[in-house]
This record gives sequence, structure tokens and C-alpha cells, in this order.
Amino acid sequence: MNDVLKNIEDIKLEALIALRGASSAEELEKLRIEYLGTKGRVTDLMRSLGAISKEDRPKVGQAANKAKEEITLLHKEIQENFKNVKSEAPALDVTLPGRKPARGHQHLITKTMDEICQIFGKLGLSIVEGPEVETDYYNFEALNFPPNHPSRDMQETLFVGDKLLLRTHTSPVQIRTMEKTKPPVWIVVPGKTFRRDDDITHSPMFNQIEGLVVDKGITMADLKGVLTAFAAAFFSPDTKIRLRPSFFPFTEPSAEVDIACVLCGGQGCRLCKGSGWLELLGSGMVDPALYGFVGYDPNEVSGFAFGLGVDRAAMLKYGLTNIRHLYEGDLRFSRQFS
Ligand code: PHE
Repeated sequence: MNDVLKNIEDIKLEALIALRGASSAEELEKLRIEYLGTKGRVTDLMRSLGAISKEDRPKVGQAANKAKEEITLLHKEIQENFKNVKSEAPALDVTLPGRKPARGHQHLITKTMDEICQIFGKLGLSIVEGPEVETDYYNFEALNFPPNHPSRDMQETLFVGDKLLLRTHTSPVQIRTMEKTKPPVWIVVPGKTFRRDDDITHSPMFNQIEGLVVDKGITMADLKGVLTAFAAAFFSPDTKIRLRPSFFPFTEPSAEVDIACVLCGGQGCRLCKGSGWLELLGSGMVDPALYGFVGYDPNEVSGFAFGLGVDRAAMLKYGLTNIRHLYEGDLRFSRQFS
């Protein structure tokens, strides 16, 4: 008899453990069939009681009934739990914290461009853009570079077809704009430019912002005033600038504009190579020859223009030691300017 009682106890324990381990309603149903179904192990057990002797039957019968009862009860309880879980759990738990996408930010070049355009915007210049692949006419000829003139050598680039090239500066947009609009013209032109230079302060692709103001009575004082205001807004309020005589075929007179060294303030240091000044941009009064190409009357209007290297401005403002940092896509660099 003891064997029979132990068998009943074993089956009961096995069933209870299995039921508790059920992880889904389907698994639970399988266990119900395995133990309590018409061919289940508990049902078999009940059937086999007929073979037990009369004296033992009450005790064994009682144990078997109790085991079945316990198993049935636990099954019911767990079945209820599964039902509740099913009805309570929404398909989508909107209370779970969301996955936060990594947030990007502007590249230092774009940020600097935007900043510069905004400053000139406040001074009344609006943004115009032009093509990066340019014709010889707009890049050189209409800017007063005669064919085969040595001044073209200052700006060597890649030709992509007959008289078609990657623009060497944003100045062609001066002509394109004046061709299309009557004076007054107050514009800035941000964009990519290309030359064969490549060293720690020059890259073959770089960015410029061109400025052009053509109106009645514009003088070099206006040029200096606008650029002084720009330097104050972009670098620091008391940044000094100086104009150095220079040459560009499309401006006369022409001036290279320097700012007082951002590191030493003009004392002379390693950055400014002891001079106290840093070269920032090229500029000048629009050469009247250009007005001939676009149909403006040089007796009516005058103007100034400038071309500023954005990469250079960013290098000076943020103390970059190598222009290539701007183009390598190294996140350790980019993230410093979020
Ligand atoms: N286009 C000249 C350059 O890239 C800069 C410049 C622009 C100079 C406008 C004068 C006036 O070197």
C-alpha cells in the first residue's frame, strides 16, 4: 500500500510543480490534459483504485481524491491568473519609457556659415547661392581675368569640361546676381569652392562667403565699417581690423583684411607669427570694368565686395590647428561643437 501512496504523492508533486512552471495558457492546457484529461495520469490513477484491496481502498482512495483536488484547484487558480493577465495587458504598453534617438547637431562649418550669414543679414545683406560647377566666363572672364592672364594661376582648379570648372571662389555669383538684378544689390553668398591647395590651413574643397554691396555712393569707408561690425560680432566686440593693399582683378583698389590676433590681441605670438595680425579675407571696391559686363552705369553706382574663408574663420575663432579636422568626420572633434 505504501508504494501506491508514494506513487500518488509523486504524481501530485510533479503535477503541482509543472503547473506552477507553466508560462502560457497553452502550456497550462497541455498539462491539464496530461494529468486531468480522460487519459491523464490522475484519471488513470483513479481508475486503478478498483484493483486495491478492500481494507486499503478507503485510505488510498482518500489520498488519490485529495491529490486530484489539489491539482484541480491549482490548475484553476493559475488558469484564472492567465485570464486576468490576458485581459489586463494592453498590446502596446504606452507607459514604457521610449527609446531616445541620438540627437544630432550642426557641423562646425555649417554652424559657422549660419552665424556669419546671420551677422551680415542684420547688416542688411540677403543670401544668394550659385552653382559649384561654373563656366570660365563667370569664374574668370566677367570678373576681369583676361584669357591666359597670370592672375588665373592664383586660383588653379579642376576643369570638368571645355571652359567648365569647379568654381575657385564665390565671386562668380557677383556677376550672376548683377546680371539678373538692378542696383541696389546687398548680398552674401555662402558656398563650396575648390582649388588645388592642400596643407594644414588649406584644403582642396573649402567654403567661402562672398559679400557684394552695390548702391549709390558706396565708399571704402562702408567696406571698412561693415567688416569692423562683422569682426566685432563674430570674434569679440573690440576686435580691430586693418586693410592691407592687395590685388584682385575684379576690385580696385583691393585690400587684404586682417584681424588683430585672436590669441595675443596684437602683441605677437606663435599663431600670428609675431606680426600681431591674422589674415581673414580679400576685399576691395568693385572694379568698374565689371559693370560693363552686367550693364550697370559706373557713374550711377559704386560698390564693395569681399570674400571670406569660412574654414579659416572657424579655425581662428575656435583655435583649430589643422583644417583637416573639419573634414575627417571624427566624432570626438565634431561633438565639441554641439
Ligand atoms: N574671390 C577672392 C578670393 O577668393 C576674394 C575676394 C572677393 C576679393 C571679393 C575681393 C572681393 O581670393
